[in-house]
Amino acid sequence: MSEAEPISFIADYPLRAHNTFGFDVRAQLACRIERDEQLLAAVRDPRAAGLPRLVLGGGSNIVLTRDFAGLVLLVALRGRRIAREDGDAWYVEAAAGENWHEFVAWTLAQGLPGLENLALIPGTVGAAPIQNIGAYGLEMAERFASLRAVELATGETVELDASACRFGYRDSVFKREGRDRFVITSVTFRLPKAWTPRAGYADVARELAARRHGDGNGSVDAAPSAQAIFDAVVGVRRAKLPDPLALGNAGSFFKNPLVDAAQFDALRQREPQVVSYAQPDGRVKLAAGWLIDRCGWKGRALGAAAVHDRQALVLVNRGGATGADVLALATAIQRDVAARFGVDLEPEPIFL
Ligand code: FAD
Ligand code: EPU
Repeated sequence: MSEAEPISFIADYPLRAHNTFGFDVRAQLACRIERDEQLLAAVRDPRAAGLPRLVLGGGSNIVLTRDFAGLVLLVALRGRRIAREDGDAWYVEAAAGENWHEFVAWTLAQGLPGLENLALIPGTVGAAPIQNIGAYGLEMAERFASLRAVELATGETVELDASACRFGYRDSVFKREGRDRFVITSVTFRLPKAWTPRAGYADVARELAARRHGDGNGSVDAAPSAQAIFDAVVGVRRAKLPDPLALGNAGSFFKNPLVDAAQFDALRQREPQVVSYAQPDGRVKLAAGWLIDRCGWKGRALGAAAVHDRQALVLVNRGGATGADVLALATAIQRDVAARFGVDLEPEPIFL
């Protein structure tokens, strides 16, 4: 774009503070993107010519296994607003670099419920569509309206709706054909005015009940408010998931695997306790954390990489681990789960 747009590159840039595993790797070149115009100016700058590129938000869903011989684009675009409303919904837009959790809290503060189940997920707004973040009974796709992105090869700004993004469980076009093609610059969410609480997830229901009993004056039958769900989700997450600032991790390391009905029936014969969720298409989703736990991995370590002691689906860096250490641990877990249950675990984060 504008050749006058000033770009400052930093060479040999340390990425340790930019990935929540805390891996100590470096980038050949890095650049902080604070305005949309800087994006094309950066990738078209002669100093970055021909380099591979890596887009980073909060680094909470990436496994940096090595130094990166390329240009890291640190997405720091800011801004959020209620863009419009119609009879049925409010539309709120946030720039890609906004912190996801702060954005969710801000929507509630505006009196706009709908994202509360996704409280405290680390990372940025711009990364939320990449794997269609989900938690506690809600996926982002259910509240998504559209996004804006820049296609790096053409320099064009595109607006994509939900069907173009092809959202699935922890999946979207951006993890497939669209990988490394687009930089998302903003996302617009549709928050229906006819809001109903979604409090059916067992951990959340339990936490809400405990809090009602705790304050001693709420009615147990009252429908929870969006703020009550937000608070309960925050409570559940703080109890089970490690804070990356204290213990490096990237959340769930594997997806919950889908099996067909016949495989599930055979598995349940052998393992009646198996935790599972029936899917609309007849398949069954298994709790990978349960499978890993059942193999005895919870709390175990291989070198400095370990399985979290409160959630077996989360692999952690106990200090000084490398991406290769975490991969070695992940491979050992995959082997055991496959041998015992005949189920292949697919990693959830993106790998470099
Ligand atoms: P990054 O890790 O920086 O990037 C992830 C991927 O997205 C990379 O491929 C990157 O290139 C790409 N990317 C990032 N920003 C952009 C952009 N603007 N344009 C184009 N590509 C981009 N996830 C869930 O779904 N549910 C959970 O409950 C959940 N819990 C978690 C708990 C913990 C403790 C942690 C550490 C992680 C958890 N995660 C969860 C995973 C993670 O928080 C999400 O995937 C989040 O959306 C990642 O955001 P980020 O900004 O950190 O992305
Ligand atoms: N379980 C065990 N042992 C464990 C861990 C889990 O037995 O060590 C059992 C639990 O008792 C529970 C079941 O497995 O019955 C599911 O556990 P949990 O509720 O903790 O959720 P999860 O399936 O492990 C998924 C998402 C999380 C999301 C939570 C809440 C995936 C891959 N993970 O975890 O997302 O926060 O549900 O909705 O779908 C992430 O994507 O990074 C992430 C953290």
